[in-house]
Amino acid sequence: MQIVIFGANGVTGRLLTRRVLDAGHSAVAVTRRPDDFPISDPRLTIASADVRRDGLAAIVAGADAVLSTLGVPFTRQPVDTYSAGTRNVVNAMRASGVNRLVVVSSTGAYPTPGRRDTPLALRLFEPIITRTIGKTVYDDIRRMEAVVRDSGLDWTIVRPSGLFDLPELTNYVAGEIDPVGAFTARIDLADYLVKVAQDRTARSKTVVVSTTEHTPTVWEMVRREAFKNDAPLAPSV
Ligand SMILES: NC(=O)c1ccc[n+]([C@@H]2O[C@H](COP(=O)([O-])OP(=O)(O)OC[C@H]3O[C@@H](n4cnc5c(N)ncnc54)[C@H](OP(=O)(O)O)[C@@H]3O)[C@@H](O)[C@H]2O)c1
Repeated sequence: MQIVIFGANGVTGRLLTRRVLDAGHSAVAVTRRPDDFPISDPRLTIASADVRRDGLAAIVAGADAVLSTLGVPFTRQPVDTYSAGTRNVVNAMRASGVNRLVVVSSTGAYPTPGRRDTPLALRLFEPIITRTIGKTVYDDIRRMEAVVRDSGLDWTIVRPSGLFDLPELTNYVAGEIDPVGAFTARIDLADYLVKVAQDRTARSKTVVVSTTEHTPTVWEMVRREAFKNDAPLAPSV
């Protein structure tokens, strides 16, 4: 398959690009910072683009699937990168006759009353974060999901929970399920995205991916967000 990845130069995007290539596919990695992209491979093309601008049709032309791990940090300013960017991607796909779209959303953007094994700290902090520092991001993630559902494309929306880093895949749980726990390892998310892109049964579905092993504590995640410490979290094994 030829797979185009928006957000390819992010933490999840780099893992995803590597997994796409390791699975034997060709990849187009889209970034505003092509000179900083760390992966090179004969089956990889690096494309420079800002999703908030036009001109994406040439990038997606010929793709079998488009994956998006686009993201912006929490801010109190208005955010429209998720929705306006994804609308531009959708328009480019329609113009190029490309149908398969898989986007990363977030379980944090929606109430999850059925979530299992919810840590007490998540129950305390999530409502505060989603209504304060995370509000503008989560508002735009919800607008993005509406853009995707109304796109007329073969779409799948993938909702991870709090992202953290692990060196190896785990036995993550995923699909049309309630989230389990508070976290998703980026490597599990990347693995699941590659699988979903090829899975016809996932079309027009909103799915969840949860990591249940080697997870950090909610306190570690809150500290990371509060102090913007970019170092990968040490999992509490
Ligand atoms: N952090 C969490 O706990 C959490 C939880 C649930 C869901 N999520 C979602 O998971 C996804 C991946 O998260 P992550 O932490 O791996 O992301 P990340 O490292 O922040 O990467 C996001 C990427 O989006 C790209 N991007 C942003 N604005 C762009 C624009 N205007 N045009 C083109 N590219 C743009 C950036 O690439 P360039 O700068 O190279 O262009 C950036 O590398 C995001 O959608 C996030 O919302 C995160």
